[in-house]
Amino acid sequence: MIILGIETSCDETAAAIVENGTKILSSCVASSSDLHAKTGGIIPEVAARKQVEYIIPIIQECLLKAFGTPDHNNPILKATATKTLSDNVDAIAVTYGPGLIGSLLVGVETAKTLTYRHSKTLIPVNHIIAHAYGSFIKNNKKGSHKGDTPLPLFPAINLVVSGGHTQLLLIKNHNDIKVLGSTRDDAAGEAFDKIARILGLPYPGGPEISEKAEKYLSVAKNVKLDLFPRPMIESDDYDFSFSGLKTSVKNYLNKSSGFDLNKIAAEVQEAIVDSLVEKTIKACVNLKPVSLLLSGGVSANERLRKKLGYRSKVEIPDIVFHVPNPSLSTDNATFIASRAFFSKKSSSWKELDAKPDATILDL
Ligand code: KG4
Ligand code: ZN
Repeated sequence: MIILGIETSCDETAAAIVENGTKILSSCVASSSDLHAKTGGIIPEVAARKQVEYIIPIIQECLLKAFGTPDHNNPILKATATKTLSDNVDAIAVTYGPGLIGSLLVGVETAKTLTYRHSKTLIPVNHIIAHAYGSFIKNNKKGSHKGDTPLPLFPAINLVVSGGHTQLLLIKNHNDIKVLGSTRDDAAGEAFDKIARILGLPYPGGPEISEKAEKYLSVAKNVKLDLFPRPMIESDDYDFSFSGLKTSVKNYLNKSSGFDLNKIAAEVQEAIVDSLVEKTIKACVNLKPVSLLLSGGVSANERLRKKLGYRSKVEIPDIVFHVPNPSLSTDNATFIASRAFFSKKSSSWKELDAKPDATILDL
């Protein structure tokens, strides 16, 4: 089954063609994040306008990359994209939420129109759970699996860490998913972004802090990183809290006359990573799943991948740890198409609406 995935929940406009939920035939992403870097954060109206501008060219490019000739950039050939969709695609998957309403509407209305026009199946996808399906993409240089590494099995614990969400999920099967815990305030990605701003680093802050932290760690090996607190790390639940970290960083900067930016980045990263890893390992020890899935934009973070990978190997050796290739961790449409293949939950184009506040309960 060939699925065209469409993702427009925030500042990325993405399309992908994925076969049987696991093989990428093409994947294209346009981003307006450069514009947001200038303002230090996303302006929803600007993001939505860029979605409108990019959506059709991105879908055309993606179709022609998957099914067109090597000369797919030729503008005359772009006119054939519509026929290409009609001939080759079985279903269209689209993120319906959560996300920014203006951005979501662009993807949802485009998917509905294409579905109606070409009599295709429409599969709405929840963005939070879809991130986990980055680990189902295989046999591709861009994929998470090399060779015949097996696909994740259920039940699985999924730590999903993105710009807007931080949750621990128990996935019993593709359509039976429970929330074990969530952030009580800021999401982990949001904490990275807000603290980066305090430190004078551009948006998105996660990769910036991570780069500075890695520089520090490459020189200061085995150094203790405990400058900032890890709120809720000992609490008797699976919840997280990251907004206090922002205040701690502010207070520290106010008190100090000068500071080493790379060291502070490493300290911030460690505090976030430790909280995430501790609660995830605890959930695995208590609930004994078969797989552990790490997903969401923050899963591109090298330190988080390493620490969770190491602790899972030592403390929960029977549980298989899966994390997508970093290029599939941040927003793209391959995992939207993959999730749609496995969920198989189609909808009529007449009934689908964008839902900015969608939760796992809306599955
Ligand atoms: O999943 P995603 O691409 O978009 C949302 O669904 O929100 O996640 C974006 C978030 C941003 O907060 C960004 O700063 C963070 O992921 N991020 C990272 C890294 N790469 C992206 N955070 C830490 N380290 C990274 N390497
Ligand atoms: Zn995301």
